[in-house]
Formats: sequence, structure tokens, C-alpha cells
Amino acid sequence: MQNNELNVTVIKGGPLKVEGDCKITNQSGETIKEGEKIFLCRCGQSSNKPFCDGAHKNVEFDQ
Ligand code: FES
Repeated sequence: MQNNELNVTVIKGGPLKVEGDCKITNQSGETIKEGEKIFLCRCGQSSNKPFCDGAHKNVEFDQ
């Protein structure tokens, strides 16, 4: 991966894997997470949205 490149990968049955220099902000514009690798929930079951907490493993989510 090149510098400043952001790569988003859909993990089958799991989250979106976001790799690169990224920052997640809330609706007020406050930074809630920064990092080089962040996993975002796609299944809607996480208790820590928008981040994946592994809850997708406990539900039928295979998309
Ligand atoms: S994708 Fe992992 S908790 Fe939703």
C-alpha cells in the first residue's frame, strides 16, 4: 500500500477493514478513533458502533 492510500476491504460475514491513515469522527466532528487499521461493523450487532466488537460471530450474518 502506498502512503496516503486508504484501503477498505469487505470481510465476508464480518466488518469493513479500513487500512491506511484514517480518522473516525462523530457527528460533532470530535475524533473518536485514529489509526492505521480500523474495523467497522457491518452487521449492526456491535455494542461499540461504529466499530466491530466481534458480535457478528454470534449472529447469522454471511454477507
Ligand atoms: S461486523 Fe463485527 S460486530 Fe458487526
